[in-house]
Amino acid sequence: MTFADHLARFTPEEWTEALETLAPEIHPIDLDATRVWLAFFPLQLHLALMAASPEERPALERKLGLMGQWRLEDHVDTSHTFLHGHRYWPQTRRAILAVSAETSFPATLPEIFTRVADHVSRTCSVDRDQLLGITIAGLMTLRQCGGEKFGIDKLGIDKLGAAVRVQLTPEVHARSIRQIQRRRRLQRGQGLFGFLRGRKKRYRMTFDENAPDGSFELIAGQDIASGAQSDKRDYRAKDSRCIPGEGPIPVECRAASCGTCWVGVLAGADRLSPIDPADEGKRLKVFGYPQPRTNDGAPIIRLACQARPTGDVTFVIPPWNGIIGKII
Ligand code: FES
Repeated sequence: MTFADHLARFTPEEWTEALETLAPEIHPIDLDATRVWLAFFPLQLHLALMAASPEERPALERKLGLMGQWRLEDHVDTSHTFLHGHRYWPQTRRAILAVSAETSFPATLPEIFTRVADHVSRTCSVDRDQLLGITIAGLMTLRQCGGEKFGIDKLGIDKLGAAVRVQLTPEVHARSIRQIQRRRRLQRGQGLFGFLRGRKKRYRMTFDENAPDGSFELIAGQDIASGAQSDKRDYRAKDSRCIPGEGPIPVECRAASCGTCWVGVLAGADRLSPIDPADEGKRLKVFGYPQPRTNDGAPIIRLACQARPTGDVTFVIPPWNGIIGKII
């Protein structure tokens, strides 16, 4: 049995359970980011698409209303750039190859995650807690893409090392965990004059921590999608779902009806208006987007057209959307 075959024995629920079992051992910088990553690439969607024949698949994709880039195989090396552990992606991919070449594999997912993360830890002298998140993303990537697309069959470990690169600028790469956490916590004050003039509070929405211009300002009371409209740059080159003049978040209805505007919150989930169970909560179930929560119980998958911030928030935009509730 190959390592990919071994990973294929575990159900989507077992993958989620394994992440939550190891949650106390995952560094806080990547715990919610890993939950968001797994929500962005649900194994259930992959299984449903693979269950259809190649001829039937395009019709199923249309039926599910899939838009954007939902296939993980299209971004093997780039889907996880919002994890701090992405800095160790080449070593993680090599470690997965090394473990896949072993003659026997650990029996459970938490044991597999730990075995690979320990391997990476030894090669790059970084504590395991910083590596578990990227390890889980890497193993799920192998699970969904298969050994050949992951490089197990065509690339040896040595060749793979040269082929895989970290997708960060040197400046972002050099950012320490403490610096990232400080930026995420930072709440902008209004200043005395702003307060005296009765100026409405403004909050910073960061949608790409790795880009120097990856944020926009939002006025208190606005939802995230409305605030994004203040950003008039053209984002279609990065994401064909974006509409010129509407900002970096793809939107259609602005009324919780289409599911286009879902986002994953990396920091500040507790600074968002609660989910209305009769509206946003109900619609999220129809759309089928997974619903992970922070350790404190705050939801981290939100509809940007419904979530109203009460402070600065850092989030990421998934590369696809659809209405997959019937298969998840
Ligand atoms: S834009 Fe349609 S659900 Fe938010």
